[in-house]
Amino acid sequence: MKKIGLIAGSLRQKSLARQLARNLGSLLPSELLPVWVSIDDLSLYSDHLTDQAQRACEDFLTQIAGLDGFCLVTPEINHEMPGCLKNALDIASATKQGNLWLGKPTIIASVSTGLMGGISASASVKQVALTVGLRVIQPSELYFGDLPNLLAPSGLLQADQETLSLLELAVTHLATAVGVQHPLNFHLTDQQLTLVRGEKEVGTADLTIKGNLLTIKKILIPETSRGQGIAAQAMVRLLVIAQLFSWAIIPECTYAQWFFDHHVAAQRLLAQND
Ligand SMILES: Cc1cc2nc3c(=O)[nH]c(=O)nc-3n(C[C@H](O)[C@H](O)[C@H](O)COP(=O)(O)O)c2cc1C
Repeated sequence: MKKIGLIAGSLRQKSLARQLARNLGSLLPSELLPVWVSIDDLSLYSDHLTDQAQRACEDFLTQIAGLDGFCLVTPEINHEMPGCLKNALDIASATKQGNLWLGKPTIIASVSTGLMGGISASASVKQVALTVGLRVIQPSELYFGDLPNLLAPSGLLQADQETLSLLELAVTHLATAVGVQHPLNFHLTDQQLTLVRGEKEVGTADLTIKGNLLTIKKILIPETSRGQGIAAQAMVRLLVIAQLFSWAIIPECTYAQWFFDHHVAAQRLLAQND
């Protein structure tokens, strides 16, 4: 399993960049695990940090060193990437272990409330990415100018097919760049998770998302795709996504209930019954 760090260049809890980063994480193919990288506690790059700031910095660097690739999502502030993202890029580029970004495949996306979707900020991230040796994945024209209108109440992206195909191409290229061949792709809406290999649909999970509750209603694997662990892959992906979006899970179907019975560690994601 390759680990992909999701980094959003905003410290705001209701940040659009964070929401887009979560959506990119939900689109990552199987064998790619999205990992949230918080930059909230990083101090500005310096050689005289307090103990607390030093610890936050070391935790961040340890996390970056252990990741295989990244999805960077930048908002645009005064035609630039925000300082918090530039600072994070700076900090991990000059460590005792060297430049931790070097050679790591990276998707770059941008968001703004303006019409241009943060294209200037994206260009500045690409320039720094080039300097620190990140390997920018194509397509890299991932600009989101009207994100609030593309988000379902659940926070999931409900973009047009062209945009979704562009994102799917980017995550597929990311998978190839980190050495994963022929993974499953996931398409997620408020009603369904669809699992696709190549062009072939190999399974679906019917669901509902209301507030912060994800209800898994039915998992269906066609006869020809059975015996390959696809139902378990659907469950694992739903768990990962629920964690990213801070949803609690209600397992309504028998398979989902069986899965939780046999994976005790996952039970912390269950909605409380009281
Ligand atoms: C101080 C400030 C400057 C901004 N400058 C730009 C800008 O130059 N171009 C643009 O498209 N949007 C600009 N915006 C809009 C932001 O891109 C938008 O608020 C975005 O949602 C911020 O990202 P976040 O939601 O992830 O925190 C600016 C917003 C603020 C607060």
